[in-house]
Amino acid sequence: MKDLVTVEDLSIGFDLRELVLPAVDSISFSVGTGETLGIVGESGSGKSLSARAILGLLPSGGKTTGGRISYQPEEGDAITITDLPKNGRAIRKLRGAEIAMIFQEPMASLSPVHTIGNQIVTTLRQHTDLNKRAALARAIELLDQVGMASPAIIAEQYAHQLSGGMRQRAMIAMALSCSPRLLICDEPTTALDATTEAQVVDLLMKLQQDMKMGMIFISHNIGLVSEIADRVMVMYLGQSIEYGLAGHVLRKPAHPYTRALLGALPAFAEPGSELASLQGAVPDLAARPQGCTFHPRCPEYAGDQCKTRIPSVHVVANQHLARCHIHE
Ligand SMILES: Nc1ncnc2c1ncn2[C@@H]1O[C@H](COP(=O)(O)OP(=O)(O)OP(=O)(O)O)[C@@H](O)[C@H]1O
Ligand SMILES: [Mg+2]
Repeated sequence: MKDLVTVEDLSIGFDLRELVLPAVDSISFSVGTGETLGIVGESGSGKSLSARAILGLLPSGGKTTGGRISYQPEEGDAITITDLPKNGRAIRKLRGAEIAMIFQEPMASLSPVHTIGNQIVTTLRQHTDLNKRAALARAIELLDQVGMASPAIIAEQYAHQLSGGMRQRAMIAMALSCSPRLLICDEPTTALDATTEAQVVDLLMKLQQDMKMGMIFISHNIGLVSEIADRVMVMYLGQSIEYGLAGHVLRKPAHPYTRALLGALPAFAEPGSELASLQGAVPDLAARPQGCTFHPRCPEYAGDQCKTRIPSVHVVANQHLARCHIHE
């Protein structure tokens, strides 16, 4: 399987007055065609920044401070996204057409003053040579494909007229409009109730299979990720602390943080044991602990070295990496 996107040692920081505040620290991962990478971690761990970097869409003040991201188009040589001019033609051509993103809060990405249909038409006309009529017909087809009951009527409505689940489906239709090869879903179901969440996740999985897309699925919910991911990256305070095939990471977690996240889920807890819960809160980025950044909360907290020495990445099994001193 050929990788669609390869991220190597990517670091991201924010410009403060005299210094750069590191937010993402040397992470590496890849996603292949038809494959789903799940990125999990608590709030502030750098999940969204890592995904946005692929589209060249870092928030203002944010910049890549190291590493590279490359994208393999269907034909021709790989494109080094990190070398492309910010917001230049080349990256805009990739965005939407080859790599699309679904955001956590659809109201923030759907326009309040354009109908759903018109928004899809605009995207289609930016990236294809469909005329207005053909683009509208395609928009209605897409709304039908994402399970909207009366797609032609929905196309004439505005985002505020739709329910949360319908808005999220409209976002998915928009993201899929140009048949992207990679779909990035950033907490696409967090704002939905459990039933609607399950429906939207099923829809995404089905569309991914039909369209043979690569997918990055970001969530703070490791249970949800365990159901859909082929590969998993667990992030903590800007670092990838565990990475590997989902079967390995979820069944034989090698980092105490992953174990703690999984231990809180009934399906993964040891039979007869009490459900674990993570102690404390994620520290502020500016007050990143010395040594292993997770040591103040570590349930298996081992010793002094964790307070002082930064753990390196260890290979714990085939294609399974963990950043913890216990594997030395
Ligand atoms: N616009 C910004 N300006 C300054 N710092 C930022 C900005 N955006 C993010 N950061 C810093 O980067 C960290 C990681 O942000 P990111 O949005 O990637 O987290 P996340 O893992 O997606 O969290 P969440 O689950 O809350 O969405 C934040 O905790 C914050 O410290
Ligand atoms: Mg986020």
